[in-house]
Amino acid sequence: MRRDARHRVTPRSASRDVTWHTAPMSPEPATEVPTNVCLQLDVVDRAEADEVSGRLWAAGATAIQEIDLGGSRVRLVAGLDADRVAVAERHLAGRWQPVVFSAHHDGWLDAWRPFARPVLSGGILVQPAWQPVEKDLVSRARLIVRVDAGRAFGQGNHATTRLALEALEQTVVAGDEVLDVGCGSGILSVAAAMLGAARVVAVDIDDEAARATTQNAGLNGVEQRVTASTTPVEFLDGRYDVVVANILAAVLVDLAPGIAARVKPEGTVLLDGIRSQQRTEVLAAYEQAGLHPVRESERDGWTAMVMRCGPGMETSRDR
Ligand SMILES: C[S@@+](CC[C@H](N)C(=O)[O-])C[C@H]1O[C@@H](n2cnc3c(N)ncnc32)[C@H](O)[C@@H]1O
Repeated sequence: MRRDARHRVTPRSASRDVTWHTAPMSPEPATEVPTNVCLQLDVVDRAEADEVSGRLWAAGATAIQEIDLGGSRVRLVAGLDADRVAVAERHLAGRWQPVVFSAHHDGWLDAWRPFARPVLSGGILVQPAWQPVEKDLVSRARLIVRVDAGRAFGQGNHATTRLALEALEQTVVAGDEVLDVGCGSGILSVAAAMLGAARVVAVDIDDEAARATTQNAGLNGVEQRVTASTTPVEFLDGRYDVVVANILAAVLVDLAPGIAARVKPEGTVLLDGIRSQQRTEVLAAYEQAGLHPVRESERDGWTAMVMRCGPGMETSRDR
């Protein structure tokens, strides 16, 4: 199973509630004996969270969960093989003393579930599918997307997903054809379909993401309009009114010609997942591919860009 590199190696500082960074799963052990442990520790701010995460990744952590404790405080829960605990403690160099507890084989990959919360982004309420809805949030929502991300990315709380949902809400109109590159849980595909898209094509390099997208489309009754697969962007055909891609900047740069080729002449490209300091390289790649920037938004150090084909189209789809 492949994963977005962001899950695996890059300590991030962007989560609002809970962010669960996962690495490729190791083969399941043959017995039920716990072979994984969790290290838990609290830090005072995002900078310290990034430093500790970096040390834990270096020590062999296979996933790190970030829980927003309010204010700037963050709780980190790292999963790792039991035989890496001493290594992790060495990497933490006595500056941090984690609590260590055991976890049954890969069960800790689902440890984020109790912490999942509904998230309202613009008028789109993303509701953990296994939880009851909260009436006050529902009354403020234009639509409710029920999501179970499973082990794909995209439960709705990450700044990049929220930026993308807001951009989709401002962009998608009834009847649109939408391409979602890096669909993860399918959260953006499902939202696009519920905003009225006639057809959504969702692709990801991770087959688990394609599965989760199909499942989440079904949960929301839009399975007839959402098709998910692991087809590489360069093998897609057709052109779309809206192309959305929430992927790392380096991947967006690589995919620029392929993504630009899939947008209709008056279509819109929504790019997201860009660390703010990387915006110029992404911008340059897409301008070179024939698009021009219309709008940017920023949240928690992440930038999202709205780009269009051809000059003079800036206002044609603005709402
Ligand atoms: C940050 S997640 C976004 C998930 C979801 N769209 C969201 O907004 O929450 C990025 C996704 O891009 C996928 N990805 C990474 N490189 C890709 C590529 N070259 N083509 C398609 N998908 C890719 C990853 O597997 C991951 O599921």
